[in-house]
Order: sequence, then structure tokens, then C-alpha cells
Amino acid sequence: MFASPVIAAPMAGGTTTATFALATQRAGALAFAAGGYKSAAALAEHLAPLRSAGTDFGVNLFLPPREPLDPGTADALERYRSELLPEAARLGASVPDLPFSSDDPRVQDYWAEKLDLLLKDPVPLVSFTFGLAPAAIVADLQRVGSRVLASVTSVAEALAAEETGVDALVVQHSNAGGHCASFLPQPRGAGEPSIVELIAAVRAAVGLPLVAAGGIGDAATAKAALTAGAVAVQLGTALLRTDESGARALHKAALADPKYTTTALTRAFTGRPARALVNDFVRSHANAPDAYPEVHLLTGPLRAAAADAGDPEALNLWAGTAWQKSQDGPVGTVIAGFLDEL
Ligand SMILES: Cc1cc2nc3c(=O)[nH]c(=O)nc-3n(C[C@H](O)[C@H](O)[C@H](O)COP(=O)(O)O)c2cc1C
Repeated sequence: MFASPVIAAPMAGGTTTATFALATQRAGALAFAAGGYKSAAALAEHLAPLRSAGTDFGVNLFLPPREPLDPGTADALERYRSELLPEAARLGASVPDLPFSSDDPRVQDYWAEKLDLLLKDPVPLVSFTFGLAPAAIVADLQRVGSRVLASVTSVAEALAAEETGVDALVVQHSNAGGHCASFLPQPRGAGEPSIVELIAAVRAAVGLPLVAAGGIGDAATAKAALTAGAVAVQLGTALLRTDESGARALHKAALADPKYTTTALTRAFTGRPARALVNDFVRSHANAPDAYPEVHLLTGPLRAAAADAGDPEALNLWAGTAWQKSQDGPVGTVIAGFLDEL
């Protein structure tokens, strides 16, 4: 199904640059382009070098948001905007006015135009996160020759994804860095399974090839996920600090800084649960509303100003729970460290 047992995670927001994706491909991993947040034109530009390289690669897209916000969430969003004002003022940043129009192409993440691009100029693999692409879209992509992956975080999501006709699943554990892919209410009370237990449970429930993602920081964990039934592992945090990664220097430095001692799932930066190093911003905004992408758009200028000011305490320092195992240096060396053992 995949050219390599190691997949370089698509990391939107600047980490996955074309240079990074090509370097992961040269190192023997399956490269994934990050389509999230990009317009179709920007995505086309991002894909051009990968297309010319002539090998297998994938493109990841975010599902567009659900229905308009309910009134209670819209009110909570207004309150959150007010809460952000003093911090924005300190950083010299503005906070956009609410509400965002549903016609704002950023709210739909340029969904229709990016799908159109991928149907007119197909790519070998397309993966989706933040929900399921409708079966008709999956079939359209398959008709033009793409294999389609859905991101899931539980057995229930895996079963729902299988119904849409996808070719494979990315099974993401909540230890993963960045956004959590979940789209159904999570099972409660049974205790959190490990990545190995999650893969084994999904393996028992569906027949599709599985990619294991989340908290995989060393070859031993990768091997255990493959033994449990995955055909590949998807690495994100393990590659963040590498030379070719487009992550901000401040983010890379924070991942290596012993002052950060834990990660948490937080909605503070984007309104969707995402795992990040716990900094002042995460601590101060524990009750951010469940409103993606509105919160992402509200905090964007503030985060950009924090980056300009060299202030990691107001930045989204995405990190999976295995962040302390991440290394700097060429991405090829990090990937070889996994491939040599698998
Ligand atoms: C900085 C960063 C950005 C990410 N962006 C995306 C993305 O655009 N699309 C996606 O499907 N997953 C994204 N992820 C999640 C990864 O695909 C993957 O599930 C996760 O990194 C695996 O866990 P790990 O970080 O512990 O390796 C991102 C992760 C990080 C750390």
C-alpha cells in the first residue's frame, strides 16, 4: 500500500515546506504535503516539486467546518475575544472582529477549490483529517487514480470511515502532537489505550491497511505499532526539530528546552483540541470555546506577533508526548534511525 513503513506527517502551518517534504522522501519516507490553511494556488505551488520528483507522495486536507456556530458558542467566542485583548495589546497585535463570514474562504479552508485541484491534477495519495469526506468525494478521487486515507482516533471512527470507501486509515492516538483528528464523541471511562492497544483494537474491527500515529518517538514504539497490525507509522513531533523542518526556531528551541515539562490537549490556540507544550497561553486559556476555525483566526495575529517578539509563551508549541526524544540535525538521519530498525 505504501512505499515505506515510515510516513512523514503532513504538518500544516509552516512545518511541512516543499524542502522538508522532499528531504523526507529522499530519506526513504513517504512524504506528505500539508494542504491545510493553504489556498488552492498555494497548494499547487507546494506540490510542484513533489510532482516533479516522480515518486509516491500524499496530500492532506482538512475537512471544512460544521454548521454555523450555535448562539451559546458564538457568545463564548465573543467573551474569548475580550479575554485575548490585553495579551494582544501587550504584543502590539490586533484581534480580528467577529463574526467571520461563512463566505470567508479561510473559514471553509478553501475546500472546494482544493478538491477541484486534486481532481483535475491528481496526486498518488490524499488524506483527510477533522472528519470524513463524503463517499462520493472519496469515489471521485479514486476514479482519478488517488488512494484515499481517513484520519480516525477510535474504533467507532474507523468503522464510520470504512463505510465511506477509503483505502486506508491513519489511526491517531491522543498522544499525537498538533490537532486531534477526532470527529465523534470519545468513549469514556475505559481508560486510555496505548497506541499499540488502539491499533490492535482497530485492526480487529476493520480490514483496511492502518497507519499508526501519535507519540511514536523511537523505533521500538514504531516496531510495536507495526507488530500490532499497522503497515506504517506516521511521524510528526520526531521530525519537528530537524534542519529541514519549517517549524519556527522558537518552537524548535522550546522542544529542546528543559523548562517545558509537559504537554496538554488545549483549544486555546485554534478552538480544536491540539497537543502542545504547556506554556503561559495554554495555562491562561483553559476554557477556550469549541469553535474551530474561529479561534484559530482570532489568535493568528497574536501568535505572529509573539513569534516576531521571540516570545514562546504565547505561541502554539505543538508537541506530542514523545517530544523529549526528538532530535535536531538532518531529517534524513532521524528517518534513517527509524528505517534501520524496522
Ligand atoms: C506541528 C504539527 C502540525 C500538524 N499538522 C497536521 C496536518 O496539517 N494534518 C494532519 O492530518 N495532521 C497534522 N498533524 C498531526 C500529525 O499528522 C500526526 O498525527 C502527529 O504528528 C503524530 O503524533 P506525533 O506528533 O506524536 O508524532 C500535525 C502535527 C504537528 C506536530
